[in-house]
Amino acid sequence: MLKFLSRPVSSLRKALEDKIVIDRERLTKLKKEHGAVPIDKITLDQMVRGMKSVKALLTETSRLDPFKGIRFRGLSIPECQVQLPAKYREPLPESMFWLLLTGSVPTQEQVEELRGELASKAKIPEKVKSLLASLPKNMHPLTQLSLGVLALGENSYFDTAYNKGMKKSEYWKPMLEDSINLVAKVPTIAATIYRNVYKDGKVSEPREDLDWAENYSRMLGWEDTNFFEMMRLNLCLHCDHEGGNVSTHAAHLVGSALSDAYKSYSAGLNGLAGPLHGLANQECLKWLLDLRQIVGDDPTDAAVEVYVRQNLRDGKIIPGYGHPVLRQTDPRFIAMLDFANKVIEDCPTLKAVEICYKVVPKILKDIGDIKNPYPNVNAISGAVMYYYGLSELEFYTAVFGVSRTLGIAANMVWDRALGLPIERPGSLTLENLEEIGQKSS
Ligand code: MLT
Repeated sequence: MLKFLSRPVSSLRKALEDKIVIDRERLTKLKKEHGAVPIDKITLDQMVRGMKSVKALLTETSRLDPFKGIRFRGLSIPECQVQLPAKYREPLPESMFWLLLTGSVPTQEQVEELRGELASKAKIPEKVKSLLASLPKNMHPLTQLSLGVLALGENSYFDTAYNKGMKKSEYWKPMLEDSINLVAKVPTIAATIYRNVYKDGKVSEPREDLDWAENYSRMLGWEDTNFFEMMRLNLCLHCDHEGGNVSTHAAHLVGSALSDAYKSYSAGLNGLAGPLHGLANQECLKWLLDLRQIVGDDPTDAAVEVYVRQNLRDGKIIPGYGHPVLRQTDPRFIAMLDFANKVIEDCPTLKAVEICYKVVPKILKDIGDIKNPYPNVNAISGAVMYYYGLSELEFYTAVFGVSRTLGIAANMVWDRALGLPIERPGSLTLENLEEIGQKSS
């Protein structure tokens, strides 16, 4: 039975349903009146260079401006910090999830209702715990997270509803149930992996009175209020980066075949696992720690500059600098730096981050032909976690993955709500491209 359909409708479900009615009409009107309008032209170069910035996806949750950075439903990070309900200063990730889903800033009461629902669903089945306990300790935490999520999908509401022949226009409802379940449980899976791999294998149960980030932090083993705030900020900052980043796009692509939320998000995690995407925060911190080994804990700008130039001469890249879309400093980097400057004193790794921020862009600009010499969030996020004693570098991508659940979950719901079809772009061969090239010359 599709029991979830007969449960009382929460404020979130109601707010979402109202918005879906409006946005479906907007899309229908757009398709009818402007369906033939060209959005973007694609060059041969763009095609063979990863389709960078080609506008070919409909994503409602956020938009990335190359110069201003991310806007979550139109709100900048500082605007989110002011407007979204918080426990202390940093927004509660639950309020960010609400914003991404509904497009509106929630009230304290609405966030409290969603917080309660997520906390009440945070426990994971024994079967999933046993699976996680059976995995080799040297398997990368993100691979374990991806497997844990797949195991969670055994009772997908969407699959059940689909097999029972639910109407297409209603698909978003079971997708929302799965997505909420996923968001609720992913921190528990991640914390279980952390405790299994790096600690004694014992993980505390999630508590119904805590918010998403504090529950996650406590399950990891932290009891420090500043750590909870850092985690709230971290989880809000990494949650979404419009639709074309590898993790969100991979989840969208898999979901477009009507695969359920667990399979789709797991696919997103597998994309996040790559060093050009989520693994970068691990690589960045490793680079900063290597830098500290060479220049010491209180280096001059000049010493850092020498190290950076030597790295570049050795043909290495400077991790955390540059971005496929951004052409300015990532505002997520600025938000993290701002947090660190307010809360953290005397941290040599963060000092190295700040000196790099001063010297690296200048050096990269000198080289020329670099589209973006500025830092992205990865240039600092690992250093902040490291300061708080979360020192297992391989786990950093899993923290990113927990945060990205919010954006991917919201996108999966909207993909169903707007009835977006299977994604199936066309492709050409080298021979085809040669013909096109010859014809144009
Ligand atoms: C992200 O947060 O997804 C990364 O910055 C990568 C991207 O936007 O492509």
